[in-house]
Amino acid sequence: MASRSFSRALRSPLTRQLTSSATQRRTLVSASRHARTGLATTLKPTVTASFQQSRGLKQIDFAGVTETVYERDDWPREKLLEYFKNDTLALIGYGSQGHGQGLNLRDNGLNVIIGVRKNGASWKEAQQDGWIPGTNLFDVDEAISKGTIVMNLLSDAAQSETWPAIKPQLTKGKTLYFSHGFSPVFKDLTKVDVPADIDVILVAPKGSGRTVRSLFREGRGINSSFAVFQDVTGKAEEKAIALGVAVGSGYLYKTTFEKEVYSDLYGERGCLMGGIHGMFLAQYEVLRERGHSPSEAFNETVEEATQSLYPLIGANGMDWMYAACSTTARRGAIDWSGRFKDTLKPVFNDLYDSVKAGKETQRSLDFNSQPDYREKYEQEMKEIRELEIWRAGKAVRTLRPENQI
Ligand SMILES: NC(=O)c1ccc[n+]([C@@H]2O[C@H](COP(=O)([O-])OP(=O)(O)OC[C@H]3O[C@@H](n4cnc5c(N)ncnc54)[C@H](OP(=O)(O)O)[C@@H]3O)[C@@H](O)[C@H]2O)c1
Repeated sequence: MASRSFSRALRSPLTRQLTSSATQRRTLVSASRHARTGLATTLKPTVTASFQQSRGLKQIDFAGVTETVYERDDWPREKLLEYFKNDTLALIGYGSQGHGQGLNLRDNGLNVIIGVRKNGASWKEAQQDGWIPGTNLFDVDEAISKGTIVMNLLSDAAQSETWPAIKPQLTKGKTLYFSHGFSPVFKDLTKVDVPADIDVILVAPKGSGRTVRSLFREGRGINSSFAVFQDVTGKAEEKAIALGVAVGSGYLYKTTFEKEVYSDLYGERGCLMGGIHGMFLAQYEVLRERGHSPSEAFNETVEEATQSLYPLIGANGMDWMYAACSTTARRGAIDWSGRFKDTLKPVFNDLYDSVKAGKETQRSLDFNSQPDYREKYEQEMKEIRELEIWRAGKAVRTLRPENQI
């Protein structure tokens, strides 16, 4: 691509002297930071969003559609402590989310305990993070028996597997919390049929648990969606918002369990991960088959995308990225975007149908319930790592300006 984006030169060791201006570097670094943190709260609504209320509940106009957003300012620490003063938060599972949400709850001063199986990797990890066996670290059953709010952060497959043991412990008056709508929405497949006499709520951070933690430590908050599946007490929504803030959210977007799980499964299989990987592979393979070198194919497919152009989209939108490129690049990109959209839209429709029909859920349950699923993933990761495109990428990364001495 014949892009003349100012930031493109930053990645090339040969031309980086041409673009060493501090302003340009700051712009790119700031754009990259926003891109890395995804929907971090530092991303204020743009000109299309207008705030209509100063505190708490906000009606925000997202491109003509008004949506409800809540913010953490309405739940200062003292209010959270008062609200949850009679609660024990039993957080079950200590993977990415358990780690991030659990440590944030602890740092917020709430009464949180962790429940994981004693022979698993999480038990050791939790101890490394300062959770003490018998004090605030227990096996799953003991933690649930002590909890008033049970935060089910086991893997989605494990939520289904352990449900027969967990369900009888969810007695009247407890609250059940998830970070994904997966288990209750697809209850025909997962068998997670929640008891009728408890509140069931969701807070789904829009990012990895590691980001939930790192943003909290920086004094910021991750954006999350929240939802109510069942409201027995009349307080379920308020509790979800308060818990969302307590686990480290900045802004909280209201959704439903169904919408959360459909959009999440769809997005990660599409543009967020699967779709983008497929597109990278297709473009790279054609370049290689047409005689281009690995470095050229990688630079024109991945490196320029991730290091220069995508951060610009993240910072200020598609038009801003187009505007930062040459008129030649812009003309071709605008012309071809329609054809790509038309070609890919049927695939996205197939994907959405597959998600809605529960096929993706079934696949995930079948695969991730196998005792050797970790080894199988490792084999798949190895195959990806060893593809020529990603081996070429490893070499290209060593030439990045920041990796030069
Ligand atoms: N990761 C994300 O970025 C993300 C983002 C938003 C929402 N979520 C949602 O958050 C929830 C937790 O996801 P996660 O990624 O944090 O965790 P995960 O890596 O999927 O799950 C890890 C936890 O599940 C436990 N576990 C697995 N199989 C088990 C079994 N048979 N019995 C008991 N425990 C078992 C593991 O314990 P051992 O160490 O003992 O195996 C570990 O503590 C899911 O609903 C997920 O969809 C995740």
